[in-house]
Order: sequence, then C-alpha cells, then structure tokens
Amino acid sequence: MRERFPELIAAAREALQRAYAPYSKFHVGAAILTDKGEIVTGCNVENASYGLTICAERTAMTRAVIQDAGRPVAVAVATRTPTPTPPCGACRQFLYEFNPDIIVLCCAESGDPAETTLRDLLPGAFDTGQLNSAAP
Ligand code: THU
Repeated sequence: MRERFPELIAAAREALQRAYAPYSKFHVGAAILTDKGEIVTGCNVENASYGLTICAERTAMTRAVIQDAGRPVAVAVATRTPTPTPPCGACRQFLYEFNPDIIVLCCAESGDPAETTLRDLLPGAFDTGQLNSAAP
C-alpha cells in the first residue's frame, strides 16, 4: 500500500489544479487510495453563497462512494502552502464514517508529507455507537 503513496500524492497535486476557489483562492486537492487499489480524486468547489462550498476531501470521498471504489485506506491532501494543511473538522468526521484508521498525508507545496491517522486527528468522534445507544 505504502508503495502507492508517491502516486497518491501526485494525484492530489494534480487534482489541486482543478480546484474551483475564486473566493478564498485557497486551492486544495485530495486523492483517496482504497482497499481495491483505486485512486479517486477531488478538489474544493466554492460557491458565491459561501456556505455551500465543498472541501476537496469530501468531493473525493463522495466520488469514491458513487464509483464503488472500495474502502478508503489513505488520503493525500495537497495545498499550495509552505507547510502541510490538515483536513478541516467536517472532513475528518466525513472520512471517519468510512474508515477511522485512514492514513492522512498532508502535502505542502514541496517537501515530505506530514503523515498522521484520522483516529489521531479526531479523538472522540461521533459514530454509530452514539446513534445506537439512543433511547427509542
Ligand atoms: N478546504 C478544503 O478543501 N479542505 C479542507 O480540509 C479545508 C478547507 C477548502 C474549502 C474552501 O474552499 C477553502 O479551502 C478555504 O477554506
């Protein structure tokens, strides 16, 4: 799996080129590697109604679902920043749904990626355990 990381990072950097971010000018690309060996990409897509903006990680994950690409095992997030950018809170929760142990590679414009896991990034996540424990 790890041998695919250079390819995964390259895919995130390519997806970054597709970012639609005319308002923030903050371009983000994401690439998800699945247990089927597929790589699925996404970019942030902004809107004049700012709150409708979708992050790169979530566009990639929704594509993975609709393409039946498999379970995510790693995600690379690429930005044009001097230091690595971690996924926002909403994206952490969104990805957690599909694999709490996903490896997260945050990639600045140059240099080695910062590697972590979703479990480390989102301790105490909301999950189906809470849903199932609610009184009827
Ligand atoms: N953004 C992402 O695409 N992913 C993140 O995890 C953080 C933020 C985007 C959303 C918006 O288009 C821009 O970055 C600035 O917040």
